[in-house]
Formats: sequence, structure tokens, C-alpha cells
Amino acid sequence: MHLAKLKLRDFRNYRKLEAGFEPGFHLLLGRNAQGKTNLLEAVYLISTLRSFRGVGNSQIIHHGRPAFFAGGTALGQAECDVRYYWSTGQRKLTVNEKPIRRLADYLGTLRTVVFCTEDLHIVKGSAKSRRRFLDLLLTQTQPGYLGLLHRYTESLRSRNALLKRDTPDAALLESFTTELIATGGKLMAARRGLVDKLSPLVRLGYRKIAAKPEDAKMNYAPSVREDFAVELAKSRAREQRYRSTIIGPHRDEVKLSLDDKPAAQFGSEGQKRTFCIALKMAQAEYLTGIHGSPPILLIDDVMGELDAERRAGLLPLISRTGQALGQVFMTCTEENWPRELSANLHRWTVDQGTLRRS
Ligand SMILES: Nc1ncnc2c1ncn2[C@@H]1O[C@H](COP(=O)(O)OP(=O)(O)OP(=O)(O)O)[C@@H](O)[C@H]1O
Ligand SMILES: [Mg+2]
Repeated sequence: MHLAKLKLRDFRNYRKLEAGFEPGFHLLLGRNAQGKTNLLEAVYLISTLRSFRGVGNSQIIHHGRPAFFAGGTALGQAECDVRYYWSTGQRKLTVNEKPIRRLADYLGTLRTVVFCTEDLHIVKGSAKSRRRFLDLLLTQTQPGYLGLLHRYTESLRSRNALLKRDTPDAALLESFTTELIATGGKLMAARRGLVDKLSPLVRLGYRKIAAKPEDAKMNYAPSVREDFAVELAKSRAREQRYRSTIIGPHRDEVKLSLDDKPAAQFGSEGQKRTFCIALKMAQAEYLTGIHGSPPILLIDDVMGELDAERRAGLLPLISRTGQALGQVFMTCTEENWPRELSANLHRWTVDQGTLRRS
């Protein structure tokens, strides 16, 4: 699947853009603040209807204008013409001119994986960032996972509210506990299954990027060791003290290590960056395996933080995804690597909200 056409109106610093893209590796070159990231944001928005910058759509509207439009043509087995119009009062999404009402009916029309500086949270941030990484990928690949996650979160919230009371109703507590155990068990099984599949891909990806590679490992470290029901029952005394549920998937950790040492504490910035890229490449590969075609890679500003050797390791990996019918969009301010490493790429210049082939 690839994005064959992109059309923007009043989208951030783009007043009007119409561009056509073939499959392959597209390099978006430009000085700072010209609109490179905005362009990736637009492709991601068409894919997920949200910004990877974690902001609301109102910020995306070109300053002083009432609405934005982002549209595109996705070419895969079928052709999908997507149009998304957004203003504070009105939003409209159509695919091949048919209105889409449910997000679930739309997601998957154009699949993307984004690589950006904020990804460093996955390695450096709290366990929540890593759980989120797993949960997002499970949501993308397992129908029903999102519903399960909602049910778990809901029973956890109710259970915690009850534990805050001086004398919690025993029968009510029992019923929330049963639901927590049932949904929590399924969440843990899904997360474990995913980490089992991802970790060899992460390890291999890391080895390909780094010249003298460390051994990158990803291990699922659930808060529950063996039996959720038994351990939850054992934790009752501590629960009463903390007035909150202290074990369960909401406390899961995903350990990321380099040569068996925690990457967050002992890794250099470049090593952490490499780890993030390996995680995202693994995500892309996993999605390719499931759907039979690679997602579009949106890569923002990652080359600048890698040394020459790691850049040389990463580029062939990216170009391979761009081959066949895959597609990659990568931004950078300068092409600071040997040309032969990326011979077959399409170069574009981004300049003050305009895009032209260079
Ligand atoms: N809603 C908006 N309306 C108009 N312009 C906007 C809006 N939001 C952001 N911009 C402008 O877009 C430009 C930034 O674009 P972008 O983040 O894509 O830059 P970039 O080319 O990726 O730069 P860098 O290399 O520094 O990352 C800034 O000049 C900013 O003022
Ligand atoms: Mg940028």
C-alpha cells in the first residue's frame, strides 16, 4: 500500500498543497521550520485521524483560517480516495465519497508507523510509555483488544474507588475483582504473546544498525508472577494500606536492556535512539507479517542523532522497506551520508510550506 496523492488546504504552514508520490523512499529536505514534520503529520493524520504530536486538530488549522482539509489517495489492492475536512464546528470524513461514521471502519485504510524524537520516551520514560507502545500495537492488530483494555481500566477504576472507602462492600469488591482478573489475564496473555514475537525482531534490527552491536533485549516483566487471583488475594493487606490495587497489568513493565543492563540507565543517547528505531522497525515488520504489505514509514529527524556508522546501518534497512511496493517518507535538514547508501531515492525540497522535487 502507498500514498499516491496528498492534498492539503490550510494545514499548518501549507496553504495549498497537491503532490503525487510513487512507492519508494522519499527524502524531504529543508531548513528548520519549513514544514517537513508538518507533512509527515498530515500523512499520519490521514492514517489515524490524529496528530502524532499529541495535539488537538484546532492547532493544525493554518493560523487565522476556519478549517483544514487533508486528503489523499491510498493505492493498495484497491484505490481509496480519502477526504478529511475539519473545523471546530464540523468534521467530515469520506472514503471514495462515502461518509465514514465509525473510526473502527476507517482505521487500516492507510497504515503508518512513525519514528520521531518523542519516541525516546519509550526507552527513557516510565513503564507507562512502554505499556502504551504494546497496547497501541495490539489495538492495531487484535480486534477486541481495545474493548478488553477499556473493561480492565473500568473495573480497576471502580475497584480503586471502592478501596478508598473505610468499609468497602465485600460483595461489590468481589465482583470487581472477578472482572479485573478475567480481563487482566487476557491482557497479560496478549502482551506476552506480542513481546515474544517482537523481541527477536528488535534484537536483529538493533544488530543491523549498530556496527559493533550490543545485545538488545526486550523482556515482558508482568506485575503478576504466576496467578493473578492468588497474588491479588495475598496483596489485600497492602491494598488496604495503600487503598488501591497494587498488582495487575496496569503495573506491567517491559524491560529494555543492552548487554543485560537497563538501556535507560546505562545507554548513551545514540544507543537509546538506536533502540527506539529498532522497536519501530520491529513494529513495522510485525505489521507487514500480519497484513502482507508494509506500512508507510514516517521518519522524522532521526539521522541527525546517529553517528556515520549507524546512519550507514539504518539507511539500507529503510530503503528495503521502500522497495517493492512499500513507501518511506524521511525528513532531514541535510544529506549527511554517502550518496551510494541511498541511490534510489526521490528527493524533495520543503521550503516555507511548499514542496517541490529536487
Ligand atoms: N497552525 C499553524 N498555522 C501556520 N503555521 C504553522 C502552524 N503550526 C505550525 N506552523 C509553522 O510551521 C513551521 C514548522 O513546521 P515544521 O515543524 O514542519 O518544521 P520542520 O521543517 O520540521 O523544521 P525542523 O527542521 O526544525 O524540525 C513553523 O514555522 C510554524 O510556525
Ligand atoms: Mg521537524
